[in-house]
Amino acid sequence: MTDLPAPVGRRRTFAIISHPDAGKTTLTEKLLLFGGAIQLAGEVKAKKNRVSTRSDWMGIEKERGISVVTSVMTFEYGGCVFNLLDTPGHEDFSEDTYRTLTAVDSAIMVIDAAKGIEARTRKLFEVCRMRDIPIVTFINKMDREARSPFDLLDEIEKTLALDTAPVTWPISQGKSFAGTFDLRRNMVRRIDTDEEPTEVAGPEDPKLMSLLPPEEADAWQEEVMLAQEACKPFDLQAFREGHLTPVFFGSALRNFGVRDLIDALASYAPPPRGQEADKRLVEAGEPKMSGFVFKIQANMDPNHRDRIAFMRICSGKLQRGMKVKLVRTGKPMSLNSPQFFFAQDRAIADEAWAGDVVGIPNHGTLRIGDTLTEGEDIVFRGVPSFAPEILRRIKLQDAMKAKKLREALQQMAEEGVVQLFVPQDGSGAIVGVVGALQLDVLKERLAAEYGLPIDYEPTRFSICRWITADDPRELDKFIESHLSSMARDLDDAPVFMAPNMFNLQYEVDRYKAIRFSDVKDYQKKAA
Ligand code: G4P
Repeated sequence: MTDLPAPVGRRRTFAIISHPDAGKTTLTEKLLLFGGAIQLAGEVKAKKNRVSTRSDWMGIEKERGISVVTSVMTFEYGGCVFNLLDTPGHEDFSEDTYRTLTAVDSAIMVIDAAKGIEARTRKLFEVCRMRDIPIVTFINKMDREARSPFDLLDEIEKTLALDTAPVTWPISQGKSFAGTFDLRRNMVRRIDTDEEPTEVAGPEDPKLMSLLPPEEADAWQEEVMLAQEACKPFDLQAFREGHLTPVFFGSALRNFGVRDLIDALASYAPPPRGQEADKRLVEAGEPKMSGFVFKIQANMDPNHRDRIAFMRICSGKLQRGMKVKLVRTGKPMSLNSPQFFFAQDRAIADEAWAGDVVGIPNHGTLRIGDTLTEGEDIVFRGVPSFAPEILRRIKLQDAMKAKKLREALQQMAEEGVVQLFVPQDGSGAIVGVVGALQLDVLKERLAAEYGLPIDYEPTRFSICRWITADDPRELDKFIESHLSSMARDLDDAPVFMAPNMFNLQYEVDRYKAIRFSDVKDYQKKAA
């Protein structure tokens, strides 16, 4: 690894993964408070509940209790610059979430102490594991009835196959939750004071005993001694490789344990990592700027119909006004007003470094997965498309607006709201989504932003696969003989659609020279 320039070494780019209701919003708010990014606790929540300036599609998200804040929040603390990337809170696993996790170097996993590992946490964790993202665990809501710490640690180890290293241990729980005990340093942090942690002689220290309900004291002492003996110590390398998670206990609501967590991120979480591109690994310390777009957000400000492309900078330094190459098209573009995002504000970024996420306002030039460089022809991996699980044909209520619909769908597909498939037999466009919520979002947005009321109709297809072959003639032959089941995606790549698995398998068996894939790596446009 090349040495990192000092500003890059200070960057910590991370996300919070959790099941809805575990406390992600509350924790975000408290983290931002530490960073001085917002003055007032409650700000993030207030945004979540604000109705006035939200466009309609955000209305849907609100109704369903989904938090939409901004996609990235930057703040400084303890000499580090933190970039917190918001993972959308949909119940549905969406591609958006996956893409966001391609842009972070570490993650905080928030677990509700009464519930343990829940479905969505597990799913998000699996995505992190695919990229060996180091995870810091926060067991939240210790001020409520909680499961035993051993029980929770055991569940993490068993269900996620992830080693745990508890750093702190809760002193009681629920109403009598008094604070945490640092297992290795014998320090006590109390919930009822803002004072720095104080040192004690060990788990038997009488100062500790006075914090515990008398009937719990003996059992607690034994438990802690066992934890000190039996639990794995924190190991930086195992953490960085994604095999071991340090665990902290606390209460986001009471702003307790949050400081330990952010200190852990500052000390242990990795600075920007090298990123895989198609031709080589790009190190964060390289001098030339490169980055990829992992998210496009429209309508962030209803007064300006702008689209913001969020780019993770992978290497070098971005300077406002610099000229870069959009590798997909080979065309140059100027970064005239790259932006940083804070809890509520945005500001022009005069310069930004590897690890930072900047918003680039544009009118449709940039797409999800795009790579920008200072000239080199590389494409970052890791922003793939997944074969949608739901396919629908779009029925326009006003048939005169077909052209407008085509343009609107193209835009929505470029933003990653839906995938668009144009059947080769000339029939109407088919949209594909991974989660049903995306269909509602598309419908709302087409109506609100383009004045295009639509309905959905079922198609006879339920599965689609990207097809490729080593021999282009084989591919052409297949396409020719299956025209009524073929479509083209946004990049003009051929897609085979099947009514069911049985039918798909039949074709897979018959055409050995064709590869049927349910994931498509981001590609440069075919020349
Ligand atoms: P999410 O973003 O992960 O969905 O969770 P969020 O922070 O919105 O928290 C979900 C609920 O849990 C909220 O209560 C929040 O106040 C509560 N909560 C979060 N952290 C803690 C904690 O450490 N201790 C306790 N006791 N509660 C916590 P709510 O009633 O749904 O919302 P609100 O009316 O309080 O805003």
